[in-house]
Amino acid sequence: MSTGCTQPVKSVARKELSYSPPIFRSCTMNSFTATRARSDQLAADVAAHPDRYRILTGERPTGPLHLGHYFGTIAERVRLHGRGVDTFIILADYQVITDRDGIGQVRDNVYGAVMDYLAAGIDPETATIFTHSAVPALNQLILPFLSLVTEAELHRNPTVKAEHSASGRALSALLLTYPVHQAADILFCKGNLVPVGKDNLPHVELTRVLARRFNDRYGKVFPEPDALLTSAPEVPGLDGRKMSKSYGNAITLGMTADETAAVIRRAPTDSERRITFDPQGRPGISALLSTAALCVGIDEHTLADQIGDRGAGALKQRTTELVNDYFAAHRRRRADLARQPDLVRDILRAGNGRANAIAERTLDEVRAAMGTSY
Ligand code: TRP
Repeated sequence: MSTGCTQPVKSVARKELSYSPPIFRSCTMNSFTATRARSDQLAADVAAHPDRYRILTGERPTGPLHLGHYFGTIAERVRLHGRGVDTFIILADYQVITDRDGIGQVRDNVYGAVMDYLAAGIDPETATIFTHSAVPALNQLILPFLSLVTEAELHRNPTVKAEHSASGRALSALLLTYPVHQAADILFCKGNLVPVGKDNLPHVELTRVLARRFNDRYGKVFPEPDALLTSAPEVPGLDGRKMSKSYGNAITLGMTADETAAVIRRAPTDSERRITFDPQGRPGISALLSTAALCVGIDEHTLADQIGDRGAGALKQRTTELVNDYFAAHRRRRADLARQPDLVRDILRAGNGRANAIAERTLDEVRAAMGTSY
């Protein structure tokens, strides 16, 4: 970016930084512990006062949702929503193009995700499920927000840095500004609680900074949202790496029982008969144990003892049964919805309609605060 464009911003940002806490507190070990503690406190307060919270969370529709998504975030959303917390779920379709060439099968992925949310127990009457690209007023918030952050601050975001280096390509302006549009996703509906995994903490932190800087400069419009760290352990993929469709190590929520059996059968294991939980030394065996243990609600060591010295074949069979039993009802409901694409489309349209109405109201407040209502 040219200095001509950053110069005026810099002087303001420097002034504001003197009373804004440094961004990315949560990225050091100590502050991560602090975020975790704050998150536990919040979880208790949400349970006591669900009516005080609006959650906004969601995902990039880059592929079918899998067990990692389910145990990592979806189950938690369903719990919060079930307690009566006002729930917004964004399918961040523009985020799909941050670090790749094309948008892929985005429509199928969006429909699939909506079906999974509904099958998991999200009630579309009370929750708002919407797509980022369908809400123009949300996206307009990005312009004033961009004026409140410096290029240097954006370059310091650890998650953006990690995604950029993993992508092996030039840093796109969309990836660099990723946390700014994520802030717009959260603030357009004045979400005050953002259930996310560790990766997304820097974005929530920048969201707080942007809300504060906006309010300081123009008058209070936005809340400063808190992150609610997901407490569920990360589900490893079947080879012990992070579960990801692109690694081919994922069990997706939409698989049939037979497809699940097939993908588990192909999972890499070893020939040691005695089953033990050892994620470093035996990643494949341990990933199966973790997956199965989550579905049955016991710990991996107990499950390993139950299999004893019956070997990887018995472990695979047990894991297949447990996964298929656990997700049988979800998959039945999902298959039902898959036969009604019009219903899924109508639910998404209704969600987009609600999101648009709210975004327009917020944008009106922003215009009034900025003196740009004409
Ligand atoms: N960046 C998130 C992810 O892929 C998805 C996302 C987009 C999101 N907008 C959001 C999450 C707003 C929480 C709040 O993991």
